[in-house]
Amino acid sequence: MELIRELIPLQSAVQAWRRRNQCIALVPTMGNLHEGHLSLVREAKRIAERVVVSLFVNPLQFGPAEDFSAYPRTLAADREVLITEGVDLLFAPAVQTLYPNGQAEQTLVVVPPSLSEILCGASRPGHFTGVATVVCKLFHLVQPDIALFGEKDFQQLLVIRRMVADLNLPVIIQGMPTVREPDGLALSSRNAYLTEAERAIAPELYRTLLRSIDRFQQGDSLPSVERKALAELEALGFQPDYVQIRRQQDLGRPKPDDNALIILGAARLGKARLIDNQCFLRAE
Ligand code: PAJ
Repeated sequence: MELIRELIPLQSAVQAWRRRNQCIALVPTMGNLHEGHLSLVREAKRIAERVVVSLFVNPLQFGPAEDFSAYPRTLAADREVLITEGVDLLFAPAVQTLYPNGQAEQTLVVVPPSLSEILCGASRPGHFTGVATVVCKLFHLVQPDIALFGEKDFQQLLVIRRMVADLNLPVIIQGMPTVREPDGLALSSRNAYLTEAERAIAPELYRTLLRSIDRFQQGDSLPSVERKALAELEALGFQPDYVQIRRQQDLGRPKPDDNALIILGAARLGKARLIDNQCFLRAE
């Protein structure tokens, strides 16, 4: 596996593959790889001839008070894991390489606020602009045929799909199911911030979402389901950000004839901000 940090060698490597008409898959990550990331890498290996993983802790998507400096950086270990998985190329640029003019001077990709400023976008202003911008740059640099993203970050997945559609980018976006611990907690690099006691209650976020779906299916109203979920999370020791039921398609507010729904939740637990979601079909 090649480890490449600069733009020109990256572009040469992928151009050589393109000339041979090889299908290229890209898995963008911020590193500190776990089984969630690896499920994307394995699917990429299955469907494409060449797999590129990018590893870049993107400062543009972190707010000023967020965990950019504390975010776990484990390049050496990540590299070993990706060699074992048979990845062709690991692209791990420096901040200066992707933002040579500085973050403030970077051209931005802004997805419409109806999608990017709700839910996580409401509590993390500018976050999805940072995500869309870096992913757009990666798509132009790597020119993948297909790129894989986890449904764990469901809003992020829709933001990327929307950017690709609106900018006519020639890449297929493949969503992948959330990988969980045996107790239901969604794998996340941020789980490392949890103390032992917090780790023990962390799976309650997902359980609360599942319980809320049951309540909704049994006829409880949307506002009542959401209010109860927030109260339960607070009682458990979380500082909930939101729990909301939305349309799967565009995360709009569900209308009575929308059946493909999703519940999404975000909550702070100690130093970690956890997110999770579950898709479901409205009961008849
Ligand atoms: P990161 O949090 O490292 O996640 C990289 C990819 O792994 C994302 O597509 C994410 O949805 C997926 N992923 C994370 N946890 C997962 C899990 N438990 N199951 C399945 N997939 C999971 O998301 C980002 O990085 C960044 O925002 C990025 C897209 C790289 C842009 O900077």
